[in-house]
Amino acid sequence: MSGGTVLVTGASRGIGLALVCELSAQGWHVLAGARDPAAAHGLQAAAGKEGPGTIDILRLDVRSDESVRAAVDEAASRVRGLDVLVNNAGVFPEEGNESLESLPLECFEEAFAVNVVGVARVTRLFLPLLGRAAHPRVINISSLAGSISSKEDSLNYCYGASKSALNMLTRTMAAELRPRGITVVAVTPGWVKTEIGGPRAPLSVEESARSLAATLGRVSEKDAGQFLDREGKKGATPW
Ligand SMILES: NC(=O)c1ccc[n+]([C@@H]2O[C@H](COP(=O)([O-])OP(=O)(O)OC[C@H]3O[C@@H](n4cnc5c(N)ncnc54)[C@H](OP(=O)(O)O)[C@@H]3O)[C@@H](O)[C@H]2O)c1
Repeated sequence: MSGGTVLVTGASRGIGLALVCELSAQGWHVLAGARDPAAAHGLQAAAGKEGPGTIDILRLDVRSDESVRAAVDEAASRVRGLDVLVNNAGVFPEEGNESLESLPLECFEEAFAVNVVGVARVTRLFLPLLGRAAHPRVINISSLAGSISSKEDSLNYCYGASKSALNMLTRTMAAELRPRGITVVAVTPGWVKTEIGGPRAPLSVEESARSLAATLGRVSEKDAGQFLDREGKKGATPW
């Protein structure tokens, strides 16, 4: 299914911006969350283009209740219900190769504030709008770095722990929200050339966004609580 209403957080750049462009090209009405819309030049340019879909930019900082509440009000003035919420905003606050002894512990706080608490905040405040859609879905953008069973190296302490926590949050929310008809899944976007993925990543943002757009259109109740890859396959990334 395509052409419904979707909110993408962290839409100022990277995978979020490419996903907004892809979904809009497919005819979706996209609400694009950015914490500083005036600085999001690529997003402003995308929203200004004529296309099959619509892009409405919302000011949305996932760390702030006040900001997310204002974004909910703004969204409610533009759409009747929300078919899909994509919790994409994320941070990688460390270098990645720190030792346990050299790691600034504040990096844990930042990673958890955005990658975990931010997802809980945005999802719970958007529940009323999700509840007005026929088959609402919440797509949490996770990472291979959150996979506990495949973890062998000593890299990415804070980011990895936060994405594992996001996976547990996904399972917990999926169990609570399933009886209300809201399907929650975690999806990996692949290793993608962005600020987080770095220049050595094999995938472009457009390639990742194309697969993610197809997957979020296909997610159904039977996927609730699953950890999917960007093509929507279960088990490709182990928990
Ligand atoms: N790239 C990869 O290889 C890869 C692999 C696995 C998972 N992921 C996940 O994919 C998602 C997107 O990452 P990316 O690779 O596209 O990274 P990116 O280019 O660094 O983009 C991160 C996005 O998150 C936004 N953001 C950060 N803090 C925010 C906040 N407090 N409120 C709202 N937005 C906030 C940023 O907005 P500003 O412009 O305002 O900073 C930016 O739009 C993340 O969840 C990441 O963990 C990426």
